[in-house]
Amino acid sequence: MNAVSKLGIVKMTETSQKAMTAEQGRETPQVPPKQQQMPKHVAQLGEEESVWFKLTSLLKADDPMSTLQRMAERYGGIIPIKLKSQKIWFITEPEYYAHILVKKPDNYVKYFHGMSAIFGKSMITIDGALWNKIRKPQQPAFHPNAFEGYFPYLQGALNDKISRWRGFARSGETIEMVEETWTLAADMVCKALFDRDMPFNPHMVFGAVKTYTNVMEHKNIRLRKVNGQLQEASQEEAAKAMDLWISIPDTVIGAVEKDHREKHLLKMLQAAENDPDFPEFDHQQTLDEMKQYLWAGTETTALTLSWAMYISWKYPEIAEKIRAEGEAVYGNREMTWPDVAKLTYTRQVIQETMRVYPPVWALIRTAAVEDEIGGHKIMPGDRMVMCTYVTHHDPKYWDEPEKFIPERFEKERVKARAKYSYLPFAAGKRACIGGTLSQVENTMALSQLLRRFRPEYVGPDPAEINPTVTLTPKGGLPFKIHELS
Ligand code: HEM
Repeated sequence: MNAVSKLGIVKMTETSQKAMTAEQGRETPQVPPKQQQMPKHVAQLGEEESVWFKLTSLLKADDPMSTLQRMAERYGGIIPIKLKSQKIWFITEPEYYAHILVKKPDNYVKYFHGMSAIFGKSMITIDGALWNKIRKPQQPAFHPNAFEGYFPYLQGALNDKISRWRGFARSGETIEMVEETWTLAADMVCKALFDRDMPFNPHMVFGAVKTYTNVMEHKNIRLRKVNGQLQEASQEEAAKAMDLWISIPDTVIGAVEKDHREKHLLKMLQAAENDPDFPEFDHQQTLDEMKQYLWAGTETTALTLSWAMYISWKYPEIAEKIRAEGEAVYGNREMTWPDVAKLTYTRQVIQETMRVYPPVWALIRTAAVEDEIGGHKIMPGDRMVMCTYVTHHDPKYWDEPEKFIPERFEKERVKARAKYSYLPFAAGKRACIGGTLSQVENTMALSQLLRRFRPEYVGPDPAEINPTVTLTPKGGLPFKIHELS
């Protein structure tokens, strides 16, 4: 555990200090010739500037999330962590989230170093007037009025998943839940937003993306890089993986259009690309926006559904309530669009799942100007790490925070809650564009999958957390699927 000095600066432990110093001592390594020939997206892997890379010393603990909770408990809602060349502020108080995300969002800019291979120059990574200009033409695709039109496509993806699970129930094989839900979320995005069936193998593609988002791997790769040991297999695998990832948007565009719909997200992106008054939106922008949706819009949704499946196994009474609600709302007929709004309890289970397991467990910004937060002076260039996981588990804001209680999300209780204490989708103008859509997807999926199946978790319990850029289950979530009669 790190210690706080009189100045309130968290000092690294001897071991982590050593690791950092050793690494910083090698800041300008002799670059072997092969490295210079590396594609840019590979060279960025383990980029030293990545805040995730810097945080690995904190996340290495056996139980990293408890370590972060203890840190906040002991040292407060804003903690300076001084690394040799960098100050990081570890923030857990809702009022400071409001300050950074809502009141002064332009003073704290996006910080995506080390992730550009995944997102390119998509809107999630950029700021200012250009961000605004790029988001505007896409916004209508996420207006709730559009969702009814998406419903048959979301249902189509879900029907494919139900058929596949019937096969698993017959074969009795063990499945990996995150892979299953990730495939579902990606198929939903392709069908509803791009008017295409998913034309790629998601297991291969998303395995590739994880090479980048698994922060622990970043550090290993970086350390090998600074040691000049570049020919490690993982490096080459990462190169191949990223080549695959970069090719995906073109594969989607090239796939057969399902229904030649007049209006969907891909059409909106292409219209912006063809707009002569919008020269900044070139073809690469379209490809990068698609990459952003295929990652930010799928892994997060999938992790939520996976953790909800685990919870439904752990607390069978919750699964039974979800089944009873489905029985009451749509019984044995097909679900319809108006039914989705009536699945109140199921939606609350999804919301509580995102409290306990927030897929984006920390929000990152860089200070652009001098500022003051909680009596601390913030300097331009300081990194702000807002750890929503800790806030979601803080007894100051949640009674019995470690208990899974979906009823916390009943209307009256939500109104009484401290503002900004629940932020799975961030807040302010940079909040998630797809938060509401993801809840529609997951409510439909959780209700219908549990109506037909009894997923049995067969991994070690409790399932452990691996905090990559997203909150993933350590070693996955293995399940067996049983069909209900
Ligand atoms: C459970 C599901 C989801 C979670 C937890 C989630 C979470 C988030 C969070 C926390 C942010 C803000 C990141 C930051 O401030 O640095 C964000 C942004 C974003 N999300 Fe989501 N998201 C989810 C689903 C989706 C879906 C379904 C889509 C689209 C299909 C989507 C597309 C985006 C985009 C494009 C942004 C960037 C918005 C901007 O910068 O203007 N997300 N998401």
